[in-house]
Amino acid sequence: MRLSNILGPLHGLWLGLTLALVPTLRAVLRAPRRFLLHPERIARVYMAHVWAGFGDGVDEGGRGEKERLIRPHAVGRVLDIGAGHGHTARYLDRARVTQYIALEPNTLMHARIRAEAAAAGFAEADGSLVVLACGAEDTGAILAKLSLTPTPSSPTHSPSHPSHTPPQIDTLISVLTLCTVPRPARTLASLVRSVLKPGGRFLMAEHVLSARADVARWQRVWAPLWSVGFDGCRMDRATDVMVAGLRVGASGGLEGEGGMEGEEGTEGWGSLEGSGGMEGKECGKGGGEGESAWSEVRTWRQEGLDTDEGGENMFGHSYGVFVKR
Ligand SMILES: C[S@@+](CC[C@H](N)C(=O)[O-])C[C@H]1O[C@@H](n2cnc3c(N)ncnc32)[C@H](O)[C@@H]1O
Repeated sequence: MRLSNILGPLHGLWLGLTLALVPTLRAVLRAPRRFLLHPERIARVYMAHVWAGFGDGVDEGGRGEKERLIRPHAVGRVLDIGAGHGHTARYLDRARVTQYIALEPNTLMHARIRAEAAAAGFAEADGSLVVLACGAEDTGAILAKLSLTPTPSSPTHSPSHPSHTPPQIDTLISVLTLCTVPRPARTLASLVRSVLKPGGRFLMAEHVLSARADVARWQRVWAPLWSVGFDGCRMDRATDVMVAGLRVGASGGLEGEGGMEGEEGTEGWGSLEGSGGMEGKECGKGGGEGESAWSEVRTWRQEGLDTDEGGENMFGHSYGVFVKR
């Protein structure tokens, strides 16, 4: 690999530091007791400043693929996990999306979500926007909130016990978030089982572990340091493999692929070979136990990853449309 590509993450970490270190220190010094008992809040303040500097550029860089992924496929009630600043709202077709539910545990980002959503025609006042402050792994809290949340089409939505709430979401979206959530396979399986309707779509845009051994090796080297600078984001997760491998277990419940639930290592997830992915593939039983969770899968990779130079990208993206069985 070229030295410039090997050292690429250092540039990102340095930029993050220059954007976020001073304002984070200021915030901590202003109210030290607020952070003393909750050190995780420091990471949230830091990430809010990092994303204020990076978010628009990252969105701009992914605009073409997001247009292809989100606009034609997002319909009905949309749940965006790790919404960040709500950039996803830019790609929603307002005529086909009835409600934008932005799940973002970092409340420092909520004001921007509201602003982005408002520009796209979604507002809390008419029920077309809901902002949730929990983590994607907290399915119970998500269900509880959804069961109490009226939709624009059903303003008298009746509250029911969360565990009895049928799946309500038509489209689940993850853009650069499964790299960060804890226990991503379990989290996604739980969301797909409890929150996404049968026939509903999961739309994914994630940077993933490279299929190239030399690149993957450097991703694993950088991953621990990168995760400190970017709120737990792991650059060594084979999220594409995990999502494609989601299965319906013998009990009818959904499960992830075996061996992937270590916080860090993603050994054993394998890797999707080639750049074409699984174009329009109908899913049957596949290689593991149980049926695939998906009735239809379409995946593709960021352009250029199959070239010599492009293949050295440690942040190569994978995209996918997955239809729940
Ligand atoms: C790299 S940003 C991506 C934001 C947005 N999806 C976008 O593409 O612009 C990752 C986001 O995931 C959020 N996040 C972190 N932990 C999370 C969790 N456990 N559940 C859901 N979101 C989480 C972060 O706060 C951050 O906003």
